[in-house]
Amino acid sequence: MTSQPAATNHTDAVDASPAQVRAVTRDHFGSGEVLGLEQVAAPRPGPGEVVVAVRAASVNPVDWHMMTGEPLVMRIEGGWRSPKNRRLGLDVAGVVTAVGEGVEHLSVGDEVFGAAEVGSFAEAVRVPADRLVRKPVGVTFEHAAAVPVAACTALQGLRDHGQLQPGQHVLVNGASGGVGTYAVQVAKHLGAQVTGVCSTRNVELVQSLGADHVVDYTDRDFTDHGVRYDVVLDNVGHQPLSHVKRCLTPTGALVLVSGPKGRVFGPLGHLLRSMASFAFGRQRVAPMFTQITAADLETCATLLASGALRSVVEASYPLDQIAAAMDHVGTGRTRGKVVVTP
Ligand SMILES: NC(=O)c1ccc[n+]([C@@H]2O[C@H](COP(=O)([O-])OP(=O)(O)OC[C@H]3O[C@@H](n4cnc5c(N)ncnc54)[C@H](OP(=O)(O)O)[C@@H]3O)[C@@H](O)[C@H]2O)c1
Repeated sequence: MTSQPAATNHTDAVDASPAQVRAVTRDHFGSGEVLGLEQVAAPRPGPGEVVVAVRAASVNPVDWHMMTGEPLVMRIEGGWRSPKNRRLGLDVAGVVTAVGEGVEHLSVGDEVFGAAEVGSFAEAVRVPADRLVRKPVGVTFEHAAAVPVAACTALQGLRDHGQLQPGQHVLVNGASGGVGTYAVQVAKHLGAQVTGVCSTRNVELVQSLGADHVVDYTDRDFTDHGVRYDVVLDNVGHQPLSHVKRCLTPTGALVLVSGPKGRVFGPLGHLLRSMASFAFGRQRVAPMFTQITAADLETCATLLASGALRSVVEASYPLDQIAAAMDHVGTGRTRGKVVVTP
């Protein structure tokens, strides 16, 4: 861990932020072209927060949805005609430059990674200190920035929602994407036998992450080849639920990370149908919504440091090419993760 002692925990004394920083902003919903880069007031930490000089941020599908304002149901919180918050970006890795009141475990100079509430597509961002942990030495900022949302989803999906046990057989649908590439590795770490589902071009990647078996979805349907799984972690949700049920063991669990996204309600319809479909019998469905916690970020940091977990970064874009980075993720074809660097 890299850690330099702070002079004090008091904000004024330790704030090394410039007056202004470059940040990605937008005034409308739309594709990448709505994004601009402008000078904004440098962030100052409130109580329980720190300011991080961003070295890398990663792009998740949720950022793309916040940018486009679709599914429309998201606008109930995010603003109906135009975005309530002009900023974007959750995942971040960087260096602490200012520490707010009450933050004991982080100091100026610490190299950290975690998730902002919003605004990590910038040169600096304010982050609640309980959503940050120290970055392991030897892990690059880009690889650390790729972790928070995707790896916490994989961890919580398999360990908590799937209750995956050593020796059990798990299938990861969408094994080559952000969540999937971490899920294959987390499942192996938990001692499971892992089958990954991806397309032909990603078979070698998924094998290299430790999958015991790979199903190429362009060639075979994973619900239709006679194997039963204790847990299915579904990052895609395109299969009929009756088909997924028949490839689960009699007490198996379907962890719903995602589903087909309608323009208005997104995956909510799939979620409701899945709850009805699993209402009777011993098989269960577990819809999930990822919570970023310091404990799970610490678990990820430990796995990264030991080599049990590695990030697959398909592309790194400079911050001024944020539109291209977002549109890349919007294709739904990302291999691992996309990051941006200021
Ligand atoms: N519930 C939550 O809290 C939560 C948290 C994080 C993410 N999510 C959601 O979970 C989903 C996955 O997230 P992510 O970050 O992994 O997305 P991602 O990185 O964009 O996923 C892209 C990957 O999906 C694969 N894929 C596309 N269609 C597929 C299919 N029919 N079968 C198998 N694989 C397919 C693609 O491979 P090919 O190009 O080879 O097809 C690509 O590698 C997203 O919908 C996201 O919004 C939900």
